[in-house]
Amino acid sequence: MPYDDLRSFIDRLHKEGEIIDVKFEVDCKYEIGAICRKALWTGGIDRNKALLFRKIKGYDTPVAANLIDSTRRYFMALDLPCDTPRPAFAEIWEKRISNPIKPKVVDYGPCKENILKGNEVDVSKFPVPIWNEKDGGPYITLPCVITRDLHTGALNAGIYRSQVFNRNTIGLLAAPYRHFMLGASALKAGDKFPVAMVIGCDPSLYIAAAAPLPYGTDEIDVAGGLRGAPVEMVRCETIPLEVPATSEIVIEGEMTVGEMMHEGPFGEFTGYYGEEGKRPFMEIKAITHRNNAIFQGCYEGRPNTCDSVLQILAHEAEVKRKLDGEHKPFLKALSIPHYGTMMLAVASIRKQYDGQAKVIGHAIVSSFPTARWMKILILVDEDIDPYNIEEVLWAVATRSNFEQDLELIRNVTGNSLDPSMPLREKENRTLRHCKIMIDATKPVRHDPEKPIPKECMPKKEIWDRIEDLWAKCTTESNPGDSRGNK
Ligand SMILES: Cc1cc2nc3c(=O)[nH]c(=O)nc-3n(C[C@H](O)[C@H](O)[C@H](O)COP(=O)(O)O)c2cc1C
Repeated sequence: MPYDDLRSFIDRLHKEGEIIDVKFEVDCKYEIGAICRKALWTGGIDRNKALLFRKIKGYDTPVAANLIDSTRRYFMALDLPCDTPRPAFAEIWEKRISNPIKPKVVDYGPCKENILKGNEVDVSKFPVPIWNEKDGGPYITLPCVITRDLHTGALNAGIYRSQVFNRNTIGLLAAPYRHFMLGASALKAGDKFPVAMVIGCDPSLYIAAAAPLPYGTDEIDVAGGLRGAPVEMVRCETIPLEVPATSEIVIEGEMTVGEMMHEGPFGEFTGYYGEEGKRPFMEIKAITHRNNAIFQGCYEGRPNTCDSVLQILAHEAEVKRKLDGEHKPFLKALSIPHYGTMMLAVASIRKQYDGQAKVIGHAIVSSFPTARWMKILILVDEDIDPYNIEEVLWAVATRSNFEQDLELIRNVTGNSLDPSMPLREKENRTLRHCKIMIDATKPVRHDPEKPIPKECMPKKEIWDRIEDLWAKCTTESNPGDSRGNK
């Protein structure tokens, strides 16, 4: 069953014991951020809990944070079993993405219960947290930003860090290659670009917004496909856009092309501060919100964080979906481990011939937009679990001859948020980096350059019976002395 809204998702999290109700008063300056980080680090990527801060100092609005920050809750958000294996998820993703469902435009929705225009517009009435110590100000970290692409007419949704400057101005940092920016690229300086910012909605919208889908994809249709039912949308009050009818808070506004304000710094998902600079901003024309609205946010910083989950699973699935038909059957699984902040990936390959791992590897490191991030790609055989770092490092240590298995791919497009990006590349805006690809697969035919011996294992006939033998060891053994006397 799809979720109607943020509230029905929170209800499910309560039922599953996945959310902590914080009942004591907290400060949205730094305190929420610190508690969120503690929760993420305590539970790790799979077991951390979401948080519902009910009492915020100086505000009436509660804050729901870190809702989609574990793989369990990501799968719950898509109504899938919490233990769905990631390679199986890639197949489910492909099916749902291939069947988008158009939204249904309705006349009214709960997001219109309160409509604020003119002098009533004041975004600082909501408890927007300051998450990390040196953040430039309060940040809306989970805005579902909806725009209409002026070239394709499709609705675009994306998540971009959004700094609250004052009661009616919000700065946004969207990378230049984001579809949000491309959608407005035909405009000239001084032209207005309508922007609707949704805070708090059905999680499938956030999942669609964060996904690296091809340019021109309508992400509201995709959200429909992910949830298996159309998203109900209502028209905005002041701009020609539609937003999900059950959104908690909707901020309607316009960006003026060419106008910039000082934004940042901001603690990013890499674990380092992202730079401050001149950035576009939206001037707010109206705010609409539900009665007893809930503000939704997420902590950003060193993994694991919301980014680890929201971005990675969709990137893994999308790289596989987009892979050429010649290679696709041989990519068993792609793992983008959360601790690698999108810069590390491991691919397990069903290798048929020598050289194939690198061929598939080159296709993976050319798959955009994921490839902008990917800096290290490790290729392993299908007997290695790409999600198990110990197995992966064993393969790298024992199956790579770096004379032939280490590939440096220099001067290719990288990402400005990579903390190690050379300054000259940042200043020139060329943003090139060097990738490495490590082929840690065994040769198919005998290779004197890599004469990997047979792996050692106990005798096969005995190993085939190991489960029985082990059960005996664990159930029939009794405490005794060193000579076997009871
Ligand atoms: C929590 C979170 C925060 C994000 N922040 C930013 C950001 O500040 N700037 C940015 O360009 N992308 C950011 N992203 C990634 C984009 O939202 C994502 O790549 C999206 O697909 C871009 O959409 P678009 O290409 O359709 O514009 C963030 C993703 C998540 C999950």
